[in-house]
Amino acid sequence: MVMDWSERFSPYGRRAKASEIRELLKLLDQPDIISFAGGIPDPKLFPRQLMADVHAEIFADEALSNQALQYSVSEGYGPLRDLLVAEMKSLGITCTKDNIVITNGSQQGLDLLGRLFIGPDDKVLVARPTYLGLLQAFTASGPTYGDIAALTGPAPVRAKLAYAMPDFQNPSGETMTLAEREALLEGARRSDLMVIEDTAYNKLSFDGPLLPSLMELDIAREGDIENSRVIYCGTFSKSVVPGLRVGWIVAATPIVQKLVLMKQASDLHTSTLAQMTLAKVMECLPAHHADTLCDTYRPRRDAMVQALEEFMPEGVTFTRPGGGMFIWVELPEGFDGAALLARAIAEERVAFVPGSAFYATQPKLNTLRLSFSATAPEKIREGIRRLGALIAREHNGMSRAATA
Ligand SMILES: Cc1ncc(COP(=O)(O)O)c(C=O)c1O
Repeated sequence: MVMDWSERFSPYGRRAKASEIRELLKLLDQPDIISFAGGIPDPKLFPRQLMADVHAEIFADEALSNQALQYSVSEGYGPLRDLLVAEMKSLGITCTKDNIVITNGSQQGLDLLGRLFIGPDDKVLVARPTYLGLLQAFTASGPTYGDIAALTGPAPVRAKLAYAMPDFQNPSGETMTLAEREALLEGARRSDLMVIEDTAYNKLSFDGPLLPSLMELDIAREGDIENSRVIYCGTFSKSVVPGLRVGWIVAATPIVQKLVLMKQASDLHTSTLAQMTLAKVMECLPAHHADTLCDTYRPRRDAMVQALEEFMPEGVTFTRPGGGMFIWVELPEGFDGAALLARAIAEERVAFVPGSAFYATQPKLNTLRLSFSATAPEKIREGIRRLGALIAREHNGMSRAATA
């Protein structure tokens, strides 16, 4: 007899589904493919020597290494939270250590927030398109989804919370203007919603300083973080390294206290060694590290925008991001990103992520996400040239079929 395991899973477990895209990305790890698929940092930018020095320093000291290898508190390593209080202050957000919980990457932060706030049939407002990992984290809780654009309409929206990425959004690369940020917050107040602000890419600002965060704007209006409806998710993944899995949440104290209890139940705490390492890295990393990241990624963004302008046939539109790792492409109606990917791999050895994965509902099939972060400019140009040629061939074929 074959066991029917699905019968035994809880409703929460049953709703957890594999992402076709994540499965697909596993297949793209072949050296002759020019991949614009994964949104990953360039490992050449990892501060490897500093990491080695910091680990050596910790392990040369008996008391420090005992602490690094020991269990620790669920809210996170105190000195790291102190440094994050200062970091948040530099971003215009006044908070105390009690407003911060350290998480295993911001992905765990999103998962804990989903479980804290979302029950079956609660409505969550997200952008079209939005971050795939947010959908994975929240969908197991059984919400319905709505379009965050509804928040800025005249009528209040019945929903539990909204999720937004104001800077260099994944997947679109777009940044919200100051007026759009104010309007989103105004809508959230009118409809009495919480707002999760995901800042994963905010250190990768290529063309100038960041606009104020949603949390900064909301605190300026409400007077205090304890009255803010914004929950801020931060991460070291794009600014230092993703492999240590360290992120943080900043929020009103009652929310943080609840998250700490959930974190305790989930994994007791984030790796003490990883947190100590990042605290030391934050103290020692030269202030110009973010400039080094931007100086590497900016020419890649430029190369991709330029190549798209040069090689994409008429009818294809794309974003021109001011930072982050992604460009969003819209193809003429009738294209299907997933079908195009199969041909792009087989015929041109180029990969990207079909855009449909980034929609909570009613996916737009004629969209693609391209990442420029891990590919050198010359290779980006060659990959976009090949992709442009394929799209032009396909487009001509579609036009011929339509006129036949
Ligand atoms: C928008 C966004 N949020 C959160 C994450 C999760 O990052 P991490 O868990 O590494 O902090 C990612 C990762 O790519 C992301 O793109």
